[in-house]
Amino acid sequence: MSVVVVVSMKGGVGKTSVTANLAVAMAAELGEGCISTVDLDPQNALHLHLGLDALERQSVCRQSLRRRNWRDVLVGSAYGVNCIPYGAVSEAEREAFENILASEPDWLGRQLAQSGLGEDDVVLIDLPPGPSVYLNQAFACADLVLIVLLPDAGSYSTIMAMESWIEQMRFQRPDLETVYLLNQMDEAVRLNRDMGEVLRQRLGKRLLPVGIHRDEAVSEALAFLQPVLVYDPRCQATQDFQRLASCLLEPSAR
Ligand SMILES: Nc1ncnc2c1ncn2[C@@H]1O[C@H](COP(=O)(O)OP(=O)(O)O)[C@@H](O)[C@H]1O
Ligand SMILES: [Mg+2]
Repeated sequence: MSVVVVVSMKGGVGKTSVTANLAVAMAAELGEGCISTVDLDPQNALHLHLGLDALERQSVCRQSLRRRNWRDVLVGSAYGVNCIPYGAVSEAEREAFENILASEPDWLGRQLAQSGLGEDDVVLIDLPPGPSVYLNQAFACADLVLIVLLPDAGSYSTIMAMESWIEQMRFQRPDLETVYLLNQMDEAVRLNRDMGEVLRQRLGKRLLPVGIHRDEAVSEALAFLQPVLVYDPRCQATQDFQRLASCLLEPSAR
């Protein structure tokens, strides 16, 4: 099993959109049911991108409070991707879950070990922005950390904080692979082009050669509770997500 975690220091950069659409693009390559997504963000939005109307019990938070494995609450979407929603929970439930995560650093590792997922399966994990108990858990189990950036000065200013985080994790995970993904690039905007260039100089090969363009179809797709690959199979963002999936599934391509 490969674990890909999608992170950023800033909110609103497109982590959840990337997690859902990348998962759908990977499922188109690897086959239905090979990709599972886990929502570790209390915003609880990931399942909506996959058109899922989760039941009350289909919640990674509630399931953990019941001390049960999330395997029983995995929801299959119409797009070949499984999802485990965070769940629409109360503040008290969220706090209790976060206390478990803080006191049991191997919680995610145990869940994955008991998940019944196969060797060739891929798990994508969506996270809230910035440092959190969720990020600690995800870093500890990740094979690949995908850091989402916008082509703006705000994202650039977060790179130092992210790199210092990764440095701290190096002690526990010396071979952890971390790559940056540029999302919402608009070639017509000069600042976007310039920031893209600055980021490439700063990050070198760690900035993926494939980025996701700014494309209104991404937001429109969510309004229809669909992945963009289904909403508009020919648009720019769909092609970008397909390229990104191939790039990540074929490590020699990056
Ligand atoms: N490539 C893109 N092109 C256009 N809009 C995008 C793109 N990626 C994300 N968005 C929009 O940006 C907003 C924030 O995205 P979201 O995935 O919720 O970010 P995060 O999970 O990092 O908070 C949403 O309205 C989403 O539709
Ligand atoms: Mg999000």
